[in-house]
Amino acid sequence: MMNGLILAADSALRTLWSEPRASRPNPATLVSELQLSDTERRQAGALMRINHVGEVCAQALYTGQALACKSPALRAQLAEASREETDHLAWTQQRLNDLKDRPSLLNPLWYAGAFAIGFAAGKLGGDQVSLGFVVETERQVEAHLQSHMDLLPAADTASRAIVSQMKADEMAHAQMAMKAGAVELPAPVKSVMKLAAKVMTTVAHRV
Ligand SMILES: [Fe+2]
Ligand SMILES: [Fe+2]
Repeated sequence: MMNGLILAADSALRTLWSEPRASRPNPATLVSELQLSDTERRQAGALMRINHVGEVCAQALYTGQALACKSPALRAQLAEASREETDHLAWTQQRLNDLKDRPSLLNPLWYAGAFAIGFAAGKLGGDQVSLGFVVETERQVEAHLQSHMDLLPAADTASRAIVSQMKADEMAHAQMAMKAGAVELPAPVKSVMKLAAKVMTTVAHRV
C-alpha cells in the first residue's frame, strides 16, 4: 500500500511539474513547419492544450489502474502503454511551448479526478473491467483526435503530425486491451465517460 502511494505521488509530481522525456522522436520534428498567423496559432494552442490535458489524464488513469490491478502481467502492459503516453505528454507539451501557449491551469485537478476514476475502475470492477475501461477511453480519445485533424489549421503541420501519431498509438492501446480480455462496458457507463470528457475538453479549451 505504502509503495503504491509513493508510486502514485511520484507519477503525479512527474506528470504535473517536471519536463517529461519522450522515448521516441517528436513527430513534429519530422515535418517542415509552415508559418502560422496569430489566429491560427491561438486556435492550435487551444486544441493542443486540450490534447495535453488528455495526456495528463492518461498518465493518471494508467497509474490508478496499475495500482488497483491484481495481475502482474496486466500491470506490465499498463506500464508499457503509459510509457507511450509519456511520449504524448512530452510532445504535446513541447508543441504548446512552440505555439507560445500554456498548459491547462487545472491540470492538478484533472490528474486527481482521472486517477480516482482509474483506481475505482480497477478496484471495483476488477482487471477485465479495467481493461474494458482502457478500450473505451482509447476509442473515445481516438475519435476526439480524429476530430482535431479537421479542426487544426491546415498549415499547422507540426501539431497534425503529433496528433496523427498519437491517434495511431491510442488505437494500438485499445487493441492491446481487447486482446488482453477486456469486457465491453455498459452503454450508460460509456455515456458518463463521454460526458466527463466533454466537460474536460470544453473547460480546457480556455483554462
Ligand atoms: Fe495518449
Ligand atoms: Fe493511449
